[in-house]
Amino acid sequence: MKRFIEELLPIKEISEESAREKNIRHGHISTLHIWWARRPLIASRATIYSALVPAENIEEKKKFLLKIAKWENSLNKELIEKAREEIKKENGRKVLRVLDPFSGGGSIPLECLRLGLETHAIDYNPVAVLLLKCILEYPQKYGRPQKVVEQNGFYKQEKQESPLIKDVQRWGEWVLESAKKEIGRFYPTDEDGSIPVGYLWARTVPCQNPLCGAEIPLIRQFWLAKKEKKKISLYPFVYNKRVEFAIVKKEGNQWKVLESSVEGFEPKVPENFDPEKGTTARAKAVCLVCGSTIEDDDVRRLFREGKASQRMTAVVLNTQKAEGKSYRLATEKDLEFYRLAEEYLEEKRKKLWEEWGIDPVPDENLPPENTLGFRVQRYGILKWGDLFNSRQKLALITFTEKVRLAYKKMLEEGYDKDYAKAVVSYLGIFISRFSSYHNSLVPLQPGYEKVQRTFSRQALGMVWDYVEVNPISENVGGWDTLFTDVIDTLSHITQIPPVEAEE
Ligand SMILES: C[S@@+](CC[C@H](N)C(=O)[O-])C[C@H]1O[C@@H](n2cnc3c(N)ncnc32)[C@H](O)[C@@H]1O
Ligand SMILES: [Zn+2]
Repeated sequence: MKRFIEELLPIKEISEESAREKNIRHGHISTLHIWWARRPLIASRATIYSALVPAENIEEKKKFLLKIAKWENSLNKELIEKAREEIKKENGRKVLRVLDPFSGGGSIPLECLRLGLETHAIDYNPVAVLLLKCILEYPQKYGRPQKVVEQNGFYKQEKQESPLIKDVQRWGEWVLESAKKEIGRFYPTDEDGSIPVGYLWARTVPCQNPLCGAEIPLIRQFWLAKKEKKKISLYPFVYNKRVEFAIVKKEGNQWKVLESSVEGFEPKVPENFDPEKGTTARAKAVCLVCGSTIEDDDVRRLFREGKASQRMTAVVLNTQKAEGKSYRLATEKDLEFYRLAEEYLEEKRKKLWEEWGIDPVPDENLPPENTLGFRVQRYGILKWGDLFNSRQKLALITFTEKVRLAYKKMLEEGYDKDYAKAVVSYLGIFISRFSSYHNSLVPLQPGYEKVQRTFSRQALGMVWDYVEVNPISENVGGWDTLFTDVIDTLSHITQIPPVEAEE
């Protein structure tokens, strides 16, 4: 039989739909966990369908293909049923069996499943295998919505509920609450009730001019909020041979100083101050105190020699007020809480090390420089653990510990072992995704007043000024906010109609 794909594949339309898919946030498996080479679902769906139906009624089939190859129709029961039926009809009414031996991020097997095929997936990478279990196996095995009866006062209410989703949600909340209890004190709320959602840090190197030696904060650009109606920036100025900061707001053509780090001194900000121009570009640094520059190779060497440090510059706050986020300069108190977290990290790390038999802060080497765009090794960032600041390390090992405890607790509560493993697998891969928002390579996106997670580009390059996101706040990067993606994705996957078993 000649297959449709041998006659026609509307590449242009499929490509356009596939490109659009990149922006889909809700329910897409990419928000469960990243996979480098993951194929678009739309392209996978279109290809599988086209390879399994005959090259007949070409125009009609093309129309239908373009309908099913739309993200919005991914859960359209009628269309899916029709596609499944066509495939079955053409193949002797048998449920076809497919094996994808290089399944990776699971796109092809997921679409096979959607199109009603008995699907088998293999990969030799353990991360991929865990993802495949979470995308394909567990939702099929444990995720089907079931009828539950809820007593609502006098009334009984019936609803459909996936036990897997319910448990992943429940234990995700349990992990967050347990972590909050332990490390919440290191992210204190401001006196006026504003919640710090991010701490801005600048890496620093000492000026190499022997007559100067000032600390150079390395900042790519100074903007904090760069929106049409909200232009707020850090403004650096020199005071007593030290770089100090003010927070300034653009009003008309003027910069208004909102706050200065030197008490009783307000710098004059020239009208032409351009926040776009930072103190560093392409690893070259400029000392604002004496005006001398450090070449890129020397900046890297200073990092490798352990002479670089970091300085907290500002704090991003969630306020109750209408303007959304606000900004203030970092204070001694902010640093004190950071140092307390640093101290507690040592204690916690020791305790978990004894319990687990391994260093909870990953001490394995990063891959060699330039593998998959990893370029931070040039700055002496050589181990996985070096990608995080101390409070981030504390947060991540604490959340990880809580996930392990959740598993233990599930068993104590009488959960089936395999089922508990499934639930905890989602929490595990979530921690991995979570860590892409909680490392020292997360830049601020002033245009959106948000952060950009690591690996949003397929590379790991240096970030001079990064945001330490408050992991327990309700904000991009916070546990709660990100966790909804897991639930959305699971909800999508578990709505794919089951494949009837072959008799
Ligand atoms: C290009 S990716 C496949 C991407 C996949 N189709 C998707 O949509 O995510 C290739 C995959 O093959 C896996 N792989 C490479 N050699 C393999 C082998 N010998 N056995 C099993 N899997 C292998 C890799 O781990 C990787 O996940
Ligand atoms: Zn200098």
